[in-house]
Amino acid sequence: MQVTNQQLITKSIEVAGQAYAPYSKFHVGAALLSEDGRIFTGCNVENISYGLTICAERNAVFAAVAAGCREFSKIVIATDTKEPASPCGACRQVLAEFNPDLEILLANFHGKSVTFSLSELLPRPTAGILDRP
Ligand code: THU
Repeated sequence: MQVTNQQLITKSIEVAGQAYAPYSKFHVGAALLSEDGRIFTGCNVENISYGLTICAERNAVFAAVAAGCREFSKIVIATDTKEPASPCGACRQVLAEFNPDLEILLANFHGKSVTFSLSELLPRPTAGILDRP
């Protein structure tokens, strides 16, 4: 059975409730859909040494990879904001490792959503990297 956007939005909002964000109080949830229809979720996990914080999106990707999954078609990212929030640059780069054209659906907790292709948010993700003369 096809996984719907609404199912992914519900999962991402649910997992945002698990976020460990005592410093920013900004709870983020991500639901990553694999090509074979599995859903991997992640929330942000902060640390008193702020730079050690990991975003929701990267935690979802790392959970998927640890489960043996590397092919993804869509990610939904949920935040309790007026406007749906965009993934940070680091997460865009990590997502592009697996699918530079990944569909990205940004949703707030109140029914508003917007869709992008990762290629719009991060063009040329690998250009020049490891390319030596
Ligand atoms: N955060 C995410 O989880 N994903 C993003 O794309 C942007 C930011 C988290 C990191 C930190 O815990 C909090 O939001 C504030 O930046």
